[in-house]
Parts: sequence; C-alpha cells; structure tokens
Amino acid sequence: MKNIVIKGTGHFAPKRIVTNEYLSTIMDTSDEWIKTRTGIETRHYIDDDKCTSDLAVEAAKMAIKSANIKPEDIDLLVIGTSSQDMIYPSTACIVSDKLGLNRPMAFDLQAGCSGFVYGLSVATQFLRTGHKKIALIIGADAITRFTDFTDRATCVLFGDAAGAIILTTADDEEDAILCLYEGTDGSGAKYLTLPAGGSKEPASPLTVENRRHFLHMNGKEIFKFAVRISIHMITKMLEETGLSIDDIDHFVFHQANMRIIDAAVERMSFSKEKVIYTLNEYGNTSSASIPLTLSLASEQGRIKKGDIVLMVVFGSGLTYAGSIVRW
Ligand code: ACO
Repeated sequence: MKNIVIKGTGHFAPKRIVTNEYLSTIMDTSDEWIKTRTGIETRHYIDDDKCTSDLAVEAAKMAIKSANIKPEDIDLLVIGTSSQDMIYPSTACIVSDKLGLNRPMAFDLQAGCSGFVYGLSVATQFLRTGHKKIALIIGADAITRFTDFTDRATCVLFGDAAGAIILTTADDEEDAILCLYEGTDGSGAKYLTLPAGGSKEPASPLTVENRRHFLHMNGKEIFKFAVRISIHMITKMLEETGLSIDDIDHFVFHQANMRIIDAAVERMSFSKEKVIYTLNEYGNTSSASIPLTLSLASEQGRIKKGDIVLMVVFGSGLTYAGSIVRW
C-alpha cells in the first residue's frame, strides 16, 4: 500500500460579498439575530452568469499551481457537490474539460456537505492501491442558487465557494492520511431536502409554484445531529489512531453554525484556539466548507507542514465524515 501526501491546496470565493445588513433590507432579519444565532457576518454570492464548475475551476487552478504538477498528469478528479451545473453530465466532466485534463476518471460525489471528505476517502483508496497516481479532489457549491429568499431561517446561512486539494503517492515521505471515518443516517434524510427536479417530483408548474426546487431544512434537528455526530467522530478517530486531543494541532469543523462548533468543543473540553473558523466571513459553503478552510489556513501559514489536522463534517443525507491528516 502506498503512502499519500498532500501536495497542494486551492480555494476560490466569488467577489460579491453579502452582509447581514444587506439581508435585513430584503427580509425580516437582523445582523444581531444572524450573528448571535450563527456566527455569520458575511457570505459570498456567485455571479449571475457563473455556475459551480466555474468556482471549482478557479480553486483547482490554485491547487495545481501550489502542487507544482502538470494538469495532464491528474488521473482522478472527484468533485463533492450538491449544486452541480446540471443533472448530467457531471460537473467533474465539465471541470475536466475546462482545466484541459487528459481524460481522467472524473465524477461527482453527492453526499451533501460531506462530499469533499467523502471524496478524500474515495481518492485515498485509489491512490493507496496504486490504481491512480495523482488525485484532484474539489468541494464546490453554489447553494445560493437553491436557497429560498422567502425562508429567512435558511437563506441567511449559505454562501458560494470552492476548495481543492491535490493528493499524490510518495514512497519516501510519511503517510498524510492517518484516519478516515464516514457514515450515513438515512433516517434523517427528511431534514434537508431539495425535493423537486428528480425522478420523484419532476419539474412542473406546480413544483415551481410550491417552491419545491428550493432547499428545505429542519434546522433544529440538524443542529442536534451535528453536535452529537461531531463529538462521536472525534472520539472514534482519536481512539482509532491512538492520538489524544493534545496531539491535534488544528480542528476544522464544517462551517455551518458557530454554536454547533462551540457546543462540540465545550463538551470535549479542548482549547478553542485550535479551532479554525471561516464561517464568519464565508457562511456555510456546503462541500466547499472544509477545503476552503484548509486552503485559507495553509495560505495564511496557520497550518504548517507536519501539523496534525482533524476535520469533521455533516450534511444532507444525513451524511457525516471525518479525517485526521498530517499536513
Ligand atoms: N432572522 C430573524 N429571526 C429568525 C431568522 C432570521 N434569519 N430565522 C429564524 N428566525 C426566528 C424564527 O422564526 C423563530 O421565531 P419564533 O420563536 O417567533 O418562532 C426564532 O427565530 C427561533 O428560530 P429557531 O429555528 O428556533 O432558531 P435556532 O436557534 O434553531 O436557529 C438555525 C436556526 C440557525 C437554522 C439553527 O437551527 C441551525 O443552524 N441549525 C443547523 C443548520 C445546519 O447546520 N444546516 C446545514 C447542514 S448541512 C449543510 O451544511 C448543507
């Protein structure tokens, strides 16, 4: 089995910044409510003439540059997304073409917000066995295309972005992937849905009229699940690796709600200083949340080579995934 190294990271967020103050001019909300209930202050919205593949391409270009590899050498491309450009072809095929890749195995991975970490796990298996050599894993979402601006409890949470990572194999370096953890609790599928447009409820005037093409969420149920599953994953991954909380240099949680992160941190009694937050500036960017945070922290020099990073995420499904990596 081959060792794996993290060769490079990249991220991209659209230029348009939307503040809580702006949202409070178009709906019944306030900066105070959003900040205290979620920790979010601003988020980035995709331009009207762009789509998810455009976000993914920009993040990928940065990752390819930082990894110092040739795009044509990438033989595996996985995109975690739940806001694909269209139902088919996959966004990965479109991104492969836009980047000029040389016929890689390319596919989308739909696991809600867990898509990127699921993708990390899938790519790791391909590289470990030597079946693929260089993997580009992207988390990209333009969730604001599907948020209902008449539903103040959901639309204030989301922003658009992409993050990317390049993994390669290396025999002469320490293995970067120390632990992978994934699961699904399908009994919670009903708590976060985009009901229409699939085979169950094909698009019709009625699905449009009933706002069935927008995201529907039971925030309270997801909140409880998120705290519980984050603690569960951290405990299990520490057990599996034999690491202690003190061995972890950085915790990267899914950037959904500051109160979810803080509740998990408090229950596990570790220092908040080790937690990297980006949701105040970017909001919940779904599959992009983890790779965006990793890439920003790496660019800022906060995550350094050799650091041990623990990440956990949850999402529609309800899916969940975690990993401990050596940077
Ligand atoms: N502005 C002002 N008031 C609001 C807003 C808003 N934007 N949204 C809701 N309220 C009101 C409600 O109407 C309610 O009023 P009422 O008491 O008069 O009925 C009150 O605030 C409290 O509403 P709750 O829903 O109880 O608020 P809560 O504290 O649960 O916060 C939130 C809601 C932020 C959605 C929270 O439940 C949450 O973050 N849940 C997790 C969501 C999540 O993580 N989703 C993503 C997971 S997967 C993925 O990332 C795609």
